[in-house]
Amino acid sequence: MTELELIRRFPQASAIPHVELGDLPTPVESLDELGAEVGIDQLWVKRDDLTSSLYGGNKVRKLEFLLGHAKAEGRRQVWTVGAIGSHHVLATSLFARELDIEPRALHFPQPLTDHVCEVLQALSTTRPDLELVDSKNVLPVKLAQRRVRDWLSRSKDPYYIPGGGSSPRGVLGYINAAFELARQIDDGELPEPEVIFVAAGTCGTLAGLTLGAKMAELSCEVIGVRVVDKVLANSLVTANLANRAGRLLAEFDIEVPRIRARDVTLLDEQFGPGYGEETPEGLAAIELALRYAPFELDPTYTAKAFAGLLAHCRDSSPPPSRVLYWHTLSSADLGELVEGADIEGDLPEKYQKFFDGRE
Ligand SMILES: Cc1ncc(COP(=O)(O)O)c(C=O)c1O
Repeated sequence: MTELELIRRFPQASAIPHVELGDLPTPVESLDELGAEVGIDQLWVKRDDLTSSLYGGNKVRKLEFLLGHAKAEGRRQVWTVGAIGSHHVLATSLFARELDIEPRALHFPQPLTDHVCEVLQALSTTRPDLELVDSKNVLPVKLAQRRVRDWLSRSKDPYYIPGGGSSPRGVLGYINAAFELARQIDDGELPEPEVIFVAAGTCGTLAGLTLGAKMAELSCEVIGVRVVDKVLANSLVTANLANRAGRLLAEFDIEVPRIRARDVTLLDEQFGPGYGEETPEGLAAIELALRYAPFELDPTYTAKAFAGLLAHCRDSSPPPSRVLYWHTLSSADLGELVEGADIEGDLPEKYQKFFDGRE
């Protein structure tokens, strides 16, 4: 069992409920060939795609604190929300089953792609209780919020995890991640970056890294690349999440600086026509990664994040010379889960149409 960096720095943090799910620390790697291709002197990646061989990506660190809390409270069900291709819903269901907790999720639609279908197939193997909201008239997220309020007023047992796992407890996972990076810098594994780029959806990852970098006295700027609507991802939301996580740490006698909205940097330009919609810049980033990187990018999150990194570095004068890309997409092979999926048996009737005409 590896001790969390947060606990090494603040031993009293060991009282915070937590369950070990991930293979931490994740490696940092230099992307020499890719850096040379795009004119960045030192380009590095933090491989959070490798957080777990069951299912990696950025949800694992959050779920260690969230499911740890659910377990500590003796909850037997976990409820969450997300789009049909949500990595968060998949990760929550997979890890909840590992811990003998039953998963339930409220889904809303998103553009259908092969990747979305693969996520749904893998999800079906966890036999979650699923509900799909129809979003013809109302913003799906608003509808989901209403439905969740309704759920929670009726039952106290299920542990509720908000979309993306972005609650104060989830954010602790990325505060710890910032300390983990600081340790890797101290150990000489990489130079201190001038700037870190990460995808920003529900902003929990960005909130944790922004606050964690400040706590760990890293001098780098953390930049989120917005991949969802501005109503959901903005600097106020991010600062608020960071400060709520800070208040949680303060309950454990950990002193935490305040994050103001102006301490949060979010790039808006890569969002494109909508959540889950491809952009030409994102597709170019995917091509580039296929040729030069040891990881793949997806069009919804990481391609936009990497495209934001490229555009920012290209347009800055002088350009930053030490740049870290924080990779948040799982690279675990879902092949076995997809093979074993029984779509008709394990997904509700309303979902069958997503697979019409597919192999
Ligand atoms: C691959 C990937 N990257 C980034 C994010 C965004 O993280 P956050 O919701 O913490 O902003 C997500 C969220 O689902 C994701 O699946």
